[in-house]
Amino acid sequence: MHGHRREFLARAGRGLLVASAVGRATPAGAASKDAAARKKGKDEEDVAPPEDLMREHGVLNRIMLLYEESMRRLEARKPLPVETLASAADIIRRFIEQYHEKLEEDHVFPRFEKANKLVDLVATLRKQHQAGRGLTETILKLGNAASIQTDANRQKLVESMRLFNRMYRPHEAREDTVLFPAFRSVVKPKEFEALGEQFEDKEHELFGKEGFEGVVSQVAELEKAMGLYDLNQFTPVG
Ligand SMILES: [Fe+2]
Ligand SMILES: [Fe+2]
Repeated sequence: MHGHRREFLARAGRGLLVASAVGRATPAGAASKDAAARKKGKDEEDVAPPEDLMREHGVLNRIMLLYEESMRRLEARKPLPVETLASAADIIRRFIEQYHEKLEEDHVFPRFEKANKLVDLVATLRKQHQAGRGLTETILKLGNAASIQTDANRQKLVESMRLFNRMYRPHEAREDTVLFPAFRSVVKPKEFEALGEQFEDKEHELFGKEGFEGVVSQVAELEKAMGLYDLNQFTPVG
């Protein structure tokens, strides 16, 4: 919801015709109150860079759950909606690798390197992004109905997902607990604020007006297709 409103207000301020969340076409930009509303909206809803990156890790986590279930089914030779797995890997490529990790590589890592802080950690994280891209390429290549007919491809697909999850769980946990909490110490307050805006703009440039929320909805649909959406199923019984 925040994303809708924020994007609506941002576009309205630029004087474009946009459809609002309730489907009305609004001739925008005429009234100066739009600009005031936009500012108010932005002030209320700005997301700080570390929080932004952390909630993107939530998307990564949800995809890793989809990978886990895919592995389980492939190993047990149970039916797998393989197009769901392919869509999950596609979200990893577009949202995690080409967006989230690019933000880290362009805006987070260089600031630590420049400040000569946590440089060994950053070097490892950079290397892991590269390794992740290789694994995703394999998952996308093998994640289709024809490919999983053979044992060799199935095994390679399972192994790639296993390596992916094994690397990314500690990778994101280290970013969340060590790197991101230290981010304020390497960025000036004004710059910190401006980066939040930049991240937001990039998000909408790449993922449209729905931005992050749109990607989360796509992941929810994949979870439904794989029977993972209902959170209650993960609560221990008794
Ligand atoms: Fe990362
Ligand atoms: Fe990350």
